[in-house]
Amino acid sequence: EKGNYRHFMEKEIHDQPEGCQRTIAAYVDTLTGRTDISGGIDFAGLSRIQIVACGTSYIAGLMGKYLIEQFADLPVDVEIASEFRYRHPALRPDGLVVAMSQSGETADTLAALRYCQGKGMKSAAVVNATESTMAREVDVVWPIHCGPEIGVASTKAFTAQVAVLTALAIAAARARGKIDAAEEQRMVRLLLEAPRLVAESIKLEDAVRAVAQEVSKARDVLYLGRGPMYPLALEGALKLKEISYIHAEGYAAGELKHGPIALVDEQTPIVILAPFDSYFEKSASNMNEVMARGGQVVFITDADGERHAPSGARVVVTAPRCDPLVAPLVYAPPIQLLAYHVAVLKGADVDQPRNLAKSVTVE
Ligand code: F6R
Repeated sequence: EKGNYRHFMEKEIHDQPEGCQRTIAAYVDTLTGRTDISGGIDFAGLSRIQIVACGTSYIAGLMGKYLIEQFADLPVDVEIASEFRYRHPALRPDGLVVAMSQSGETADTLAALRYCQGKGMKSAAVVNATESTMAREVDVVWPIHCGPEIGVASTKAFTAQVAVLTALAIAAARARGKIDAAEEQRMVRLLLEAPRLVAESIKLEDAVRAVAQEVSKARDVLYLGRGPMYPLALEGALKLKEISYIHAEGYAAGELKHGPIALVDEQTPIVILAPFDSYFEKSASNMNEVMARGGQVVFITDADGERHAPSGARVVVTAPRCDPLVAPLVYAPPIQLLAYHVAVLKGADVDQPRNLAKSVTVE
């Protein structure tokens, strides 16, 4: 049921505070303030994690790499399942394979998962559909609990996947002695606050709709970010492509000089995702480089970032201030809403984009 919303995608974007609240509640113990990851995975004894996935789930997995390596000092490889399954990857049995999949049925992801199992690896699946093939075939199921996702473009499943991986990063950090109990509790508190901040972030919808007017006229759009904002830049570009049919590319902002800057002209909106964090100055300097070439910058930052930003951004979208731990969740709604409103302005069929299927069960 769409309720008062025009599209499932719009509803699912707005469902995210509640969705990720449910997700987080399943992975933390609110009484003790500790993470609570079931399945008996011994994070301390793991040599590495191999994440396999496709599309948006792959991008969520990439976010997981940033989180898990930073906090738990545990090596994480993330690979597109369709590449992984055919290239004879070097694997050792002491690693854990994690299949990320909203549907739990994606053919390439399933094949990549089975390949790892065949090499003797323990397996886990981060899925929405708990009755799915992947859920049945793994040692451990980590459900994302966000409720059925109907819109073909994944939104609430993405934030729920990222929420699970954040909890997992905290749990692994604790198990591996990288953080103490007090720090775990501090991080869990931050995570528990995330749904409120995601709700705040959704309130940026009017500001984003105004940006969408401009973006809808573009032929190409660039998305740039550093650190965890890099996967989000990829996700922003993927969302825009799939529902508005505007060509978009997500890049690590540091790669700008190594090629994509050649695309920058007065007609190309450049969305820069840059909370006021340890990467900010570098992102601000990329913003200057883009503006010096006439690029139209859409700057998504927070109040501190707005104050410290070089002047001249075409538009600034001011997201709620948040700890870097939860920024991947808080900065997701603005890029989803941007894609959504551009698609609506272009009259596209948002919930059923052309050529796309919700679940890709053929390779
Ligand atoms: C993009 C999108 C797809 C899916 C991909 C994987 O919005 O929805 O890229 O993420 O097809 O699907 P699952 O997660 O079901 O394996």
